[in-house]
Amino acid sequence: MILPSQIFSMLPRPVQRQLEAYQDALSVFSEIRDPRVLRALGPSGLRGLILQRGKQGTPAQMPASHAAHFDWQYSDDMPEMRVLYERAKANQWNGADLPWHISVDPLNPEVPVLPKSFVDFEGLRVRGIHLTPAEEMRFLHSLSAWMLSQFLHGEQGALFAAAQVTESVQFFDGKLYGATQVMDEGRHVEVFHRYIDEKMGRLYQINDNLFTIIDSLMTDSRWDMKFLGMQIMVEGLALGAFGTLYQITSEPLLKNLLRNVIQDEARHVHYGVLALREHFSTALSESERREREDWAFEVALLMRNRFMAFEVYEEWFQGLMTRDEWKMFVTEVPGMKMFRQVMFTRLVPNLREIGLLSPRIMPHYDRVGLSQYFKGTSADKLTASDLMSGLDLAAAAE
Ligand SMILES: [Fe+2]
Ligand SMILES: [Fe+2]
Repeated sequence: MILPSQIFSMLPRPVQRQLEAYQDALSVFSEIRDPRVLRALGPSGLRGLILQRGKQGTPAQMPASHAAHFDWQYSDDMPEMRVLYERAKANQWNGADLPWHISVDPLNPEVPVLPKSFVDFEGLRVRGIHLTPAEEMRFLHSLSAWMLSQFLHGEQGALFAAAQVTESVQFFDGKLYGATQVMDEGRHVEVFHRYIDEKMGRLYQINDNLFTIIDSLMTDSRWDMKFLGMQIMVEGLALGAFGTLYQITSEPLLKNLLRNVIQDEARHVHYGVLALREHFSTALSESERREREDWAFEVALLMRNRFMAFEVYEEWFQGLMTRDEWKMFVTEVPGMKMFRQVMFTRLVPNLREIGLLSPRIMPHYDRVGLSQYFKGTSADKLTASDLMSGLDLAAAAE
């Protein structure tokens, strides 16, 4: 704690909680080594983690500073991306056609949105917190509504980032493809919002760390940073989360929805790998490449260490356990462990494929326990059914 513990314990509880949250936010910055990365993430961190701009109940304005790139030659510059564009047009689907007539009861233990095994309820009992079976279902409802809400907020970020990238990318074929992604992300916002609104009945505010990442890439003027942030990092996270949820949920409407969304997301990550592999290997200096490598590592850590569902903690257990105890508990929750594993299986091979996993950075990944993912399969070599079956995950875990 930043204050001596005797002084801290004399403060009123609400002040203690605020200080704990600030301390937690500041620890993000103190861990960043590269000053350029700190400059890139710092202002967004201030808005997201300290000022909590995503939680004020008012719209957030994020000033954009990129250049719209016009090329009047319309050259045929990336045949592989043209193939993706054709595939994207052929595979459009209508969110209204999902089986919305299915009635969903998030408190019904017979058809759980998340299985009870997702949470280690015994771990709560050890900490003196005893939930009844009905409370356990309500807790799972909170957790699943929180996760789906973060998916929805992430999809809103993806919609605007896809629009920005479509403007600023230099490949003409990339612009055509980007137009389909804007449509895809709009549809994802539509279906997640409808599911939350009609079936879950509650929307959580955006997580501060997700706000920080989205703010950072929306306001960065460099299109490849937007690409890296959205198409590789956030979409990688989303693919991991959607794939896991698809496998463990018993709720048929959600399963259906996720299957359709995953097919779109697989194209998006593929697009990111294609565009960045080309750009990083031909257009960047070594110093610029290093900056992106460090940025990706910091954001990977931010995603690993900080998606801790604090919004659920504040609602359920604030006052019953400390923020640190909650962090330890969530780190060990079986479902969250699975999420993290799937997420990094998706993410790390893509970083390798685009040239951001050089021998210089590998020891850092190794130090934080992520070297087991170095040899996994990258997105451009995975089909949507690979992503849903999770077969490559079993191979990666061996
Ligand atoms: Fe999406
Ligand atoms: Fe996407």
